[in-house]
Amino acid sequence: MKVHFRIKRFNPERDSKSYWGDYDVDADPLDRVLDGLHQIKWYIDGTLALRRSCAHGICGSDTMLINGRNRLACKVLIKDVGRRITVEPMRGLPVIKDLVVDMEPFFAQYRSVLPYLINTDPPPAQERLQSPEDRARYDDTTKCILCAACTTSCPIYWANGEYVGPAAIVNAHRFIFDSRDQAGEERLGILAERSGAFRCRTIFNCTDACPRGIEVTRAIQDVKRALIGRL
Ligand code: SF4
Ligand code: F3S
Ligand code: FES
Repeated sequence: MKVHFRIKRFNPERDSKSYWGDYDVDADPLDRVLDGLHQIKWYIDGTLALRRSCAHGICGSDTMLINGRNRLACKVLIKDVGRRITVEPMRGLPVIKDLVVDMEPFFAQYRSVLPYLINTDPPPAQERLQSPEDRARYDDTTKCILCAACTTSCPIYWANGEYVGPAAIVNAHRFIFDSRDQAGEERLGILAERSGAFRCRTIFNCTDACPRGIEVTRAIQDVKRALIGRL
């Protein structure tokens, strides 16, 4: 089938503002949007810049706005988005070139919540045991692939880039509710700040955007409840 792509282009070395590029490609309905973008890059215009790695929904590097929604280009089939496909970079992060955004502000917020296990007890001979019930408390938030689809679909984040954002809260949740971790209080202290969890207005765009099906808003609510519990 013939598919028409409209892609938001921007080269900071040449353009004063972004513009739309139009491209027609032959595609199979079962091709992914990423395949169409590859066709454009490899056979029509090699200057098109996009980020991708695994091509199988694992690495989280190819989030972009596809027909107005944050999606992983490697997980969206052309048959599901139609013959006219609009592709733009994620919102809320600076565009480096075309579909490539600067992820550093996103990862700085991720790092700010201490997203790793902290336990100062001497390590046991084998492993730190945990009951299945305790493991289940944070199972959902272990699935995050740091694709930024949630944070860059949140209007609160668009309006104020200081907001730590849903992805950082999801990754804080993953350790706050881990019975083996000892830094939950410290993380809650970070998320109690002005740029923290109470910035969230329960808009749910983040949950709709998550390609891993994580209940992002629910995780944020868990964290808010824990914050209220320490008042
Ligand atoms: Fe991506 Fe979901 Fe993780 Fe947000 S919570 S960064 S949308 S995988
Ligand atoms: Fe934003 Fe999600 Fe909260 S979209 S306002 S972080 S529920
Ligand atoms: Fe890795 Fe799409 S390229 S998730």
